[in-house]
Amino acid sequence: MSDKDTSNQTGKTFTLTNDQTGESWQLPVLDGTCGPSVIDVRKLYAQTGHFTFDPSFTSTGSCKSRITYIDGEEGILMHRGYDIAELASKSNFIEVAYLLLYGDLPSQSEYNEFEHNIKYHTMVHEQLINFFKGFRRDAHPMAIMCGVIGGLSAFYHDSLDIWDPRQREISAHRLIAKIPTIAAMTYKYSLGQPFVYPRNDMSYAENFLHMCFSVPAEEYKPNPILTKAMDRIFILHADHEQNASTSTVRLSGSSQANPFACIASGIASLWGPSHGGANQAVLEMLHEIGSKDRIPEFLEKAKDKNDPFRLMGFGHRVYKNYDPRASVLKESCHEVLEDLGITDDPLLEMAMELERIALEDEYFVERKLFPNVDFYSGIILKAMGFNTEMFTVLFALARTVGWTSQWKEMIEEPSLRIGRPRQLYTGPAKRPYVSINDRD
Ligand code: SDX
Repeated sequence: MSDKDTSNQTGKTFTLTNDQTGESWQLPVLDGTCGPSVIDVRKLYAQTGHFTFDPSFTSTGSCKSRITYIDGEEGILMHRGYDIAELASKSNFIEVAYLLLYGDLPSQSEYNEFEHNIKYHTMVHEQLINFFKGFRRDAHPMAIMCGVIGGLSAFYHDSLDIWDPRQREISAHRLIAKIPTIAAMTYKYSLGQPFVYPRNDMSYAENFLHMCFSVPAEEYKPNPILTKAMDRIFILHADHEQNASTSTVRLSGSSQANPFACIASGIASLWGPSHGGANQAVLEMLHEIGSKDRIPEFLEKAKDKNDPFRLMGFGHRVYKNYDPRASVLKESCHEVLEDLGITDDPLLEMAMELERIALEDEYFVERKLFPNVDFYSGIILKAMGFNTEMFTVLFALARTVGWTSQWKEMIEEPSLRIGRPRQLYTGPAKRPYVSINDRD
């Protein structure tokens, strides 16, 4: 974004005064459609010789965006103005992908054309199979995803010009279309089963489940319950404002790196257990707790500053209320397990008891720590047949739509500039070089 962009200015200002020199500066305030206004500090260093300091960006807006809005206090999540609960119950993932990419819900003909374009990009170059052969069968699927997605740019030289709108769109379609195929390939590779080619007569979610669970030995019969649950899980994970992985994608894209490399950087960031890796960590935590009577012991560990253990799937930088996605997933848990005839899933029982106790505990209440998107998702994914190491891959699959939409929005901003934060230097002052013979 250009430093000369003066849109959203309100005429309101904040006055900043240097108490040592008495100098003061008027900093413009920018208003958005909703949510907190921002103090524009783009000229602060030039005017004051000072940087701002906000290492984890708790109080820092990195960009303007029209895609997603989160109200953390109220537990609200909207995509292009549409509430997540409405999209999860009334829309489907392909339609939400169109909404995130292009800004409005599609007409029927726009939907049909978009779905067709995605369907006809689902196959991957046959050479890509060789990438997998270099990995051990027990490689973490996220390691494979980082490698294979990063390598996609080696196959699509015809859509790497980020300044050509048509090439940007083709790359976006290729990424959204191929990520399920590659994700399913990572799953099959871990099982030692043959890869399954995509089918164009199936919906996006149905096709993904088909590529994961069908085997050449018998006809695959899609389960409509699992298909609906998968599609809803994809919707709930599609985008989430400027989270760590999306910010990674934007910063990568600001150097004009190609979109495949940018999405690979997002996958790498999402893998961390503080971020998308939490869904795998929640299941591992529930297994570690083992039984309801051990919940208090683990809550004490979570509160102990000397213990690195944290309650995985709880807490959020932005939500200081119940994550609206967790509410939908909690409801889906009951529906899917019941539909699958799983009446008393011990993991779900444990998760619900853990949530009940935590939400009554002063430590969690005081810090406004609520279940987030990762707390219940793994229980459904496990019931659907996925192993825990695939959970973050499914998060990355869905978030590819958000990453691609945010990347596209950034590239389409007038005069893209490279992102380059500064620092507070606390290292040694200047000192002369000492040859090794003269050192102590
Ligand atoms: C995602 O940003 C996004 O939008 C991400 C995401 C998306 O869709 O892209 O929503 C997806 O990443 C969800 C979050 C998944 N991660 C987890 O579930 C891991 C467990 N949660 C925590 O690690 C933590 O809550 C974070 C990382 C999510 C948020 O960390 P913050 O904002 O830096 O919060 P903090 O560490 O400053 O915590 C504030 C206080 C601290 O205690 P005090 O120092 O004030 O005494 O709350 C405590 C923390 O110790 N705390 C927890 C806790 N989370 C915060 N204590 C125990 N268990 C936890 N889970």
